[in-house]
Amino acid sequence: MTYRIAPSILAADFARLGDEVRAVAAAGADWIHFDVMDNHYVPNLTFGPMVCKALKPHAKTPEGMALPIDVHLMISPVDALAASFAEAGADLISFHPDASGHVHRSVQAITSKGVKAGLVFNPAEPLDVLDWVIEDIDLILIMSVNPGFGGQSFIDSALRKIEAARKRIEASGKDIRLEVDGGIKTDNIRQVADAGADTFVAGSAIFSQPDYKAVVDAMRAALR
Ligand code: DX5
Ligand code: ZN
Repeated sequence: MTYRIAPSILAADFARLGDEVRAVAAAGADWIHFDVMDNHYVPNLTFGPMVCKALKPHAKTPEGMALPIDVHLMISPVDALAASFAEAGADLISFHPDASGHVHRSVQAITSKGVKAGLVFNPAEPLDVLDWVIEDIDLILIMSVNPGFGGQSFIDSALRKIEAARKRIEASGKDIRLEVDGGIKTDNIRQVADAGADTFVAGSAIFSQPDYKAVVDAMRAALR
């Protein structure tokens, strides 16, 4: 199983986002998780496509290897801004099905731009929509906190939903990433992996520490 660590820049120093992206890339991150909030779908406001475009060239390791930008849209409506993020260099764009009036069309708005599409499920949101769109997506993102803020505690029922999502992925026969988002720490990441996740968002666990690489290395050690 290939595990991926995706630091969320929501917890980074917003006065130095370029440096922070470079720092976590150098610390061994696999993806850069980019939390987009519109103060409509969630009670918080972050950044848009222009910031994604500005940060894209910084999402690189010291050796020059580019890291995928994993855009998590906590916005409603979805389609127009998803297209703008595709133009801004997003590599994956995920959205909440309950934030879109037409989920299948919103997925197409992303995949038609050649960008990988994902669906994000809040703690009380069922997986049922996957019955009809799992063939069209590349990523399932399970929220283990309520969206809008970093630094919250992991909601344990997410473990059961991860198991259910893993079963759906296996039944689909597709190589779909299973990402978990919220309250991921060095001391619970193994449990989340054992439930079936392969990609882990971590914001405060990483950016609250002086040595990002030490945290990423500790997370990888817990996953081995
Ligand atoms: C919350 C965001 C998460 C958050 C994770 O709405 O989607 O990505 O930044 O932050 P931590 O890891 O601190 O829970
Ligand atoms: Zn997120």
